Amino acid sequence: MSVNSRIPGFYKLSPPDRFKAIVERTGLPASELASLAATEGSMLSIADRMIENVVGTLSIPLGVAANFTINGRDYLIPMATEEPSVVAAASNMASVARIHGGFHTSSDQPIMIAQIQLVGAKDPHGARLRLYERRSDIIALANEQDPLLVKLGGGAKDIEIRLVEADGRTYVVLHLIVDVRDAMGANAVNTMAEALAPLVSEIAGARVRLRILSNKADLRLARVRATYDCQALGGPDVVDGIIDAYAFAAADPYRAATHNKGIMNGITAVVLATGNDTRAVEAGAHSHAAASGRYTSLSHYEKDAAGNLVGTMELPMAVGLVGGATKTHPVAQAAVKLLGVKGAQELAEIIVAVGLAQNTGALRALAAEGIQKGHMSLHARNIAVAAGAQGAEIDAVVSRLRDGGHVRLDRAQAILGELRQSGA
Ligand code: MEV
Repeated sequence: MSVNSRIPGFYKLSPPDRFKAIVERTGLPASELASLAATEGSMLSIADRMIENVVGTLSIPLGVAANFTINGRDYLIPMATEEPSVVAAASNMASVARIHGGFHTSSDQPIMIAQIQLVGAKDPHGARLRLYERRSDIIALANEQDPLLVKLGGGAKDIEIRLVEADGRTYVVLHLIVDVRDAMGANAVNTMAEALAPLVSEIAGARVRLRILSNKADLRLARVRATYDCQALGGPDVVDGIIDAYAFAAADPYRAATHNKGIMNGITAVVLATGNDTRAVEAGAHSHAAASGRYTSLSHYEKDAAGNLVGTMELPMAVGLVGGATKTHPVAQAAVKLLGVKGAQELAEIIVAVGLAQNTGALRALAAEGIQKGHMSLHARNIAVAAGAQGAEIDAVVSRLRDGGHVRLDRAQAILGELRQSGA
């Protein structure tokens, strides 16, 4: 199929007209693409205000993780993910952590960094010190951009000037350090960085290039600790297996990437459910995992004196409650209500608790029965549906698929064919 992708004025059309235009371009029957546009009217208008060129929305399952106690308070935690076993694993590990008091968390103030890159300074070392000499002017100008944030106790608090050597040049890089309170903060700090550019350029005697936040939000760390009961996990050998799995990830970047992906299965699901920026959080997490210069595990595991497993983790968590999809998406708003959180730091701490639970759940399964058993029961249902099974046929196909061991589409189709032929 070849399409002409030039659609003049596409962005100005309504979502139904955009859908018509793309159907025309593809030459496919509208029925084959109808799911792209199968969104109820009010949600479609909301989506159309959120991004450009909207034709519809994509639904992702939203599950609720149970059993979480965090700092002595119980939470029901919304998780949006397409991956089977994620919500179940988090809920299971939360029930094991609960035996010894659940998750204990802490977090830094909500501090974001904006970077201003200065190029062509004749005297970079001199420029650096001249910028420090004007610290209070720079901070005052930044704060003029957001009086409301300042009124709420936030705003620009400090600057840091770095010299970054690259390709034989020296860039003077100003970090503006901003307390963004209950926001994720990208808009606030980017506005400040752009407004500062002329002043900073004049002081440094250099041209400003980039003015943008850093997703390495390492002044905004959230931390979590939990003690998992040895017997409830499956005994001392499972605890040792989890510690071996952790040590493997700590030592080997190939394993660390997968280990951290398991953590992000939990983190991203809550970040998404609450309408926050999943890519910002992921960039922050992975940059933190490589902060030592070598990519490694985000979490840590050890045993306490009684042989229970102690899991800990610390990573940047740039999430907010005001602004963005958190305010405009009705599901995100309801998710925040369900959590009952009062501030962005509380949300950040819940998210890292889910990340740790997710990680422990994956490592427990890997150290014990392997992950395929749990994955396969839901996977088998998906495969049965993909093969065309409907209603009662689904359970019948799933049960025969699992008896046979191999959960594959071709087997599901064959089983469904046999069931239909035998009239079962
Ligand atoms: C799968 O989505 C996540 C795991 O691979 C994580 C891990 O290996 O630790 C199970």
